[in-house]
Amino acid sequence: MRKGLVIHRGEKELARGAAALFHDAGRAAIRERGLFTAVLSGGRTPRALYELLGAEYRDKADWGRVHLFWGDERCVPPDSDESNFKAANDGLISRIAIPSENIHRIKGELPPKEAALAYEDEIRSFFRLGPGKLPPFDLVLLGLGADGHTLSVFPGTNALGEKERLVTENYVSLLGSWRVTLTIGALRESRKAMFLASGWDKAAALRDVLRGKAPVAGPARMVEAREVVWLVDREAAALLGEQSD
Ligand code: 6PG
Repeated sequence: MRKGLVIHRGEKELARGAAALFHDAGRAAIRERGLFTAVLSGGRTPRALYELLGAEYRDKADWGRVHLFWGDERCVPPDSDESNFKAANDGLISRIAIPSENIHRIKGELPPKEAALAYEDEIRSFFRLGPGKLPPFDLVLLGLGADGHTLSVFPGTNALGEKERLVTENYVSLLGSWRVTLTIGALRESRKAMFLASGWDKAAALRDVLRGKAPVAGPARMVEAREVVWLVDREAAALLGEQSD
């Protein structure tokens, strides 16, 4: 498993670099397989990326061949300001010509377990997965929490131990709320996992994940895929001691 690290000067440059990688991955996937399956992440970090894709790449990509999935979702309706779907819809989906059937959102408005089972069914049928097979997503966007979480797999939560399911409901006591999330294992056959991390508050978690420092740096360090790349800014990289691009 190849790991790459790119350190950008700031959040804007990080979003630019991520948009270019997203576009390149999409063009390669469409050229080779006729479609591009991308998993979007939640939280604040990817919003600048979604805005860029919805603006500068609006007419550059063949969105009709792009299928969007989510790595995780809060258990809220799709029009909630908490919704990861809403964040991507506002910045990207509402601005591009993508067929509604290409949007595979997690139905946060359903009870958590029902939403998880429905989303797993959708992934399995989309990729025609047999039992024990994993989805070959072309690109998975991932965030990094200051506590080393990613997706909605937080340290000490049940989702960490889920080895069978692709998608699980996960109660996060730290937040006092339910989430629906891909499991870490569901990512293993993905062609590329792309972490985005910016800001001082991620510096210690990033150091721990990349250096494998004890204590175990949590879920993000467990992520495996055919390729894992990290796009970070200088603040997040402050404790790594490496030069920025
Ligand atoms: C979520 C995300 C979560 C996020 C990290 C980083 O639903 O919040 O899936 O894993 O990526 O918490 O969040 P920020 O980008 O807001 O720092």
